[in-house]
Amino acid sequence: MDTRTTLRLHTGREIPIIGLGTWQLTRDTAGAVEQALALGYRMIDTSGDYGTQPGVGEGIRRSGLPRDEIYLVTKVEEDDDAYEATRRNLEELRLDYADLMLIHRPPPRGAGEGLWAALLRARAEGLVRDIGVSNYTIEQMKRLYDGSGERPALNQIEWTPFGWSREMLDFCGTEQIVIQAYSPLTRATRLDDATLRQVAEGYDRTPAQLLLRWNLQHGVVAIPKANDRQHQAENLALFDFEIADDDMAVLDGLNELASSLGDRVQYA
Ligand SMILES: NC(=O)c1ccc[n+]([C@@H]2O[C@H](COP(=O)([O-])OP(=O)(O)OC[C@H]3O[C@@H](n4cnc5c(N)ncnc54)[C@H](OP(=O)(O)O)[C@@H]3O)[C@@H](O)[C@H]2O)c1
Repeated sequence: MDTRTTLRLHTGREIPIIGLGTWQLTRDTAGAVEQALALGYRMIDTSGDYGTQPGVGEGIRRSGLPRDEIYLVTKVEEDDDAYEATRRNLEELRLDYADLMLIHRPPPRGAGEGLWAALLRARAEGLVRDIGVSNYTIEQMKRLYDGSGERPALNQIEWTPFGWSREMLDFCGTEQIVIQAYSPLTRATRLDDATLRQVAEGYDRTPAQLLLRWNLQHGVVAIPKANDRQHQAENLALFDFEIADDDMAVLDGLNELASSLGDRVQYA
C-alpha cells in the first residue's frame, strides 16, 4: 500500500485512512477479520452492540500481527456507564486497549458530557489511546469541548457523495477533527447510480472504489464493510489512481443529504 495511507489526529497519533466495518459481519467474524488483515487492512471498526467484538479480537490474534500495527475502533452506547462499558468492550475483545473509543450517538438531551468525562478517565488509565464521537452535529461537538477543554479526535458519521456536508467538512478541517465515513458504500444501495457508474468507467474502476477514493481525496477515513474476499480486496485498491478535480465536483454534486439508514443525514 501507499505511504499516504494514514492521517494524523490532533493528538499526534496516526489513523489508517481505510478500515473494515463489522456491523452485520457475523457469518464468520474472526475469519473475515483475519482475511482482511492478511490483505493489508490495518483498521477494524466494531461496537459493543454489534456482537462482533469477540470475533474481531479473535481475528486480530489469529493474524499474528503485533498489536501496535492494528488500529481498533469501538464504541460505547449513549445509555452506558461509559467507563464500565469500555472495560466490558475490552474484555469481549480480549485486548488490553482500544486505539479509539467513540460515543456511538449523542444522548437525547445534552451532548453526552458525562460519557465524555468517563472516556477521559478511561484514556487517563490507558484503556484507550484516543477518544471521539459518532453521529454528532457540529453544535454537539462544540458543547462537548467547551465543557471539557478536550475536542474529539474524530467524528464517525454517514458520509457519501449522496449525503455529506461542506459545513461539517470545513468545521472538522479547522478543528482538526477527522471525519470517519460510515456506510461509505451506501450499503450497496446506490452502486448502480448512472452518474457514479459513468465516472467510475472513466477510470476503469468500480463504483465502490470511486466512492472510497472520493472520501480519501476529501481527507475522510472510510470503513466499508465487506464479508466477501473480492470486495475486501477491491476496497483496498485505491492508491494507484486519482479522481480529477472536475470529476470530484461531479461526485460532490450528487449530494441530496440521502441516507441509506433513514430519511436524510443530519449534520447540523
Ligand atoms: N457509528 C454508526 O452509527 C454506524 C452506523 C452504520 C455503520 N457503521 C460502521 O460502518 C461500517 C460500514 O457501513 P455499513 O456496513 O452500514 O455499509 P457499507 O460499508 O456502505 O456497505 C456494506 C455492503 O456493501 C457490500 N460491499 C462491500 N464492498 C463492496 C464492493 N466492492 N462492491 C459491491 N458491494 C460491496 C457489502 O457486501 P459483502 O459484505 O457481501 O461483501 C455489504 O452488503 C459498518 O460495518 C460499521 O462498522 C457505523
